[in-house]
Amino acid sequence: MEKITAAAIRDMKDRGERIVMLATYDYLTARMIDEAGVDAVLVGDSVANVVLGHRDTLAVSMDEMIHHTKAVARGVKRALVVGDMPFMSYQASADDAIRNAGRFLKEGHAEAVKVEGGRSMIKKINAIIESGIPVMGHLGLTPQWVHQFGGFRVRGKTEPTARAILEDARRLERAGVFSLVLECIPWQLAKLITEKVGVPTIGIGAGPYCDGQVLVLHDLLGLTGPHVPKFVKRYAKLDDAITKALADFKREVKAGKFPTLEHSYDMPREEMRRLLKSFRRGR
Ligand code: KIV
Repeated sequence: MEKITAAAIRDMKDRGERIVMLATYDYLTARMIDEAGVDAVLVGDSVANVVLGHRDTLAVSMDEMIHHTKAVARGVKRALVVGDMPFMSYQASADDAIRNAGRFLKEGHAEAVKVEGGRSMIKKINAIIESGIPVMGHLGLTPQWVHQFGGFRVRGKTEPTARAILEDARRLERAGVFSLVLECIPWQLAKLITEKVGVPTIGIGAGPYCDGQVLVLHDLLGLTGPHVPKFVKRYAKLDDAITKALADFKREVKAGKFPTLEHSYDMPREEMRRLLKSFRRGR
């Protein structure tokens, strides 16, 4: 089993091998993802809304991201572990960017970081890469920019906005990112970017012509409620299965049907007899 590195992910484009990435946040699911042979595990800042109950990704802190990254790294043997730099961990200065990217590797045991944004983030991305830390770029609907964008909408649907994203992709390639997440942009634009840049594109809501695909595990498993974004395919409906299991558990406990002796520990008859005898003597 060969460990997947950032360089190996970059080389997959040249070989025409599609990249599979999933976002998750804990040891248990990271281990399952790794055992399924997925190439990269992203410890996404989507942990904020998917499992911590925030309404967007902005609230999650560096300490929380490190906590989740440590757990994921413990579950992964083969896949590349990528830590997602949270809001305001890199925007203010190149020093912040280096220090916080470094924490992902030093404390979280990630092997790369992901940074949202294009031209305005180039200095920070350069600084991280020059510190020896591989960077995955992220363009299109970058959720940390939700307030500037005015909501979660598809980006790059017009010629000027599409051109800006294409130019950003080229700038990020020149800055040295090893791959590029493209989120919620028209498939035609994603195809063009994939053809025009030398680093692999990993799409989410960006159509079938990217070099790879990423989804949030919980979306794929059907754990994220009734609203299913257009770009998500549910490969299971675990929320139905979990809801049913919880209702069954509650009903059986209330009815005295669980546990039965089948789920109980047995005491040797002789020990029980001695216990009763000593109890009677002590009374
Ligand atoms: O945080 C996240 O899960 C992500 C992916 C959706 C790319 O950034």
